[in-house]
Amino acid sequence: MSQSALITGATSGFGAACARRFAAEGWRLMLCGRRQERLDELRAELATITPVHAFALDVRDEAAVNAAIAALPAEFAAIDLLVNNAGLALGLEPAQRCDMQDWEDMIDTNIKGLLYCTRAVLPGMVERNRGHIVNIGSVAGNYPYPGGNVYGGTKAFVKQFSLNLRTDLLGTKVRVTNVEPGMAETEFSLVRFKGDESKAGRIYDGAQPLAAADIADVVYWAATRPAHVNINRVEVMPVCQAFSPFAIHREA
Ligand SMILES: NC(=O)c1ccc[n+]([C@@H]2O[C@H](COP(=O)([O-])OP(=O)(O)OC[C@H]3O[C@@H](n4cnc5c(N)ncnc54)[C@H](OP(=O)(O)O)[C@@H]3O)[C@@H](O)[C@H]2O)c1
Repeated sequence: MSQSALITGATSGFGAACARRFAAEGWRLMLCGRRQERLDELRAELATITPVHAFALDVRDEAAVNAAIAALPAEFAAIDLLVNNAGLALGLEPAQRCDMQDWEDMIDTNIKGLLYCTRAVLPGMVERNRGHIVNIGSVAGNYPYPGGNVYGGTKAFVKQFSLNLRTDLLGTKVRVTNVEPGMAETEFSLVRFKGDESKAGRIYDGAQPLAAADIADVVYWAATRPAHVNINRVEVMPVCQAFSPFAIHREA
C-alpha cells in the first residue's frame, strides 16, 4: 500500500501545497484545518488522484484531536508521516503593547496544538517502528526580530521539542525533522494583520518571497530520504532575505 500523510493546516499555504505535492507522488492523505469548505474543495481536487480523508479540526482542542485520530478509517490509521503545519502569527507590536489573547492563541496553536497532534500519533508510530514527524518551525525561532516576541518563542519551542523528540526516539526508526522557513507568501501575513490586505501585501512588496510549493518541496524531500537518514533541521530563506547587524540604540 502507498504511504500516508496527515497534514494539519491543509486549508491554505504550506499545508495545501504539501497536500498537492504528496498527492501528486501517490501518497494517501489525511487533511485537516478549521475551514470545512476549503477542506471540501481540496478533497474534491485531490480525491481524483489519491484516497483523501478530510476532517475539520481545531488543533487547540485536545479532546477533538484525540477523537479525530481514534476515528481515522482503518485504511488511514497507520500514519507514515505527520506534518505539524497548523500555526499562525498574530500581531507585530512590541511586547509592551501586545494583546495577551494573541499571545495565548499562538501558544495554544503553535505549541499546544502541535503537542496534542504529536502525542496522539506518536505511540502508533513507535509501535509500528516506522514513521516521520515533520514540524514546521520558522527562522523566527532562530533569530529575533522586532515584534516577533511570542511567535518566535513558540517556534524556538518547536525546534527544541523536535530535537528532544529525536533523543526520546533513539532506538526506534521514527524520524523527526524541523523545517524552518523564512519569508513565504501564503495567508500568513493576512492572518497576522487580522485580514488587513494592504498591510499584508506590503510585507511582500518588491520582494520575491518563498512560495508555498518551495516548502512543500523541502518537506517532500525530507520525507523521502532513505530510512536510515534523518534530516534534523532545514532552514530555508528566499534569496532576497538576509540578516541585519546588531541594533545599537545611541542617546542623542
Ligand atoms: N508564511 C511564512 O512566512 C512562514 C514562515 C515560517 C513559518 N511559517 C509557519 O508555517 C505554518 C503554515 O503557515 P502558512 O504560511 O502556510 O500560513 P497560512 O496560509 O495562514 O496557513 C495556516 C494553516 O494553519 C491552519 N490553522 C491555523 N490555526 C489552526 C487551528 N487552531 N487548528 C487547525 N488548523 C489551524 C489554517 O487553517 P484554518 O484557518 O482553516 O484552521 C491554515 O490551513 C505555520 O506554522 C507558520 O507559523 C510560515
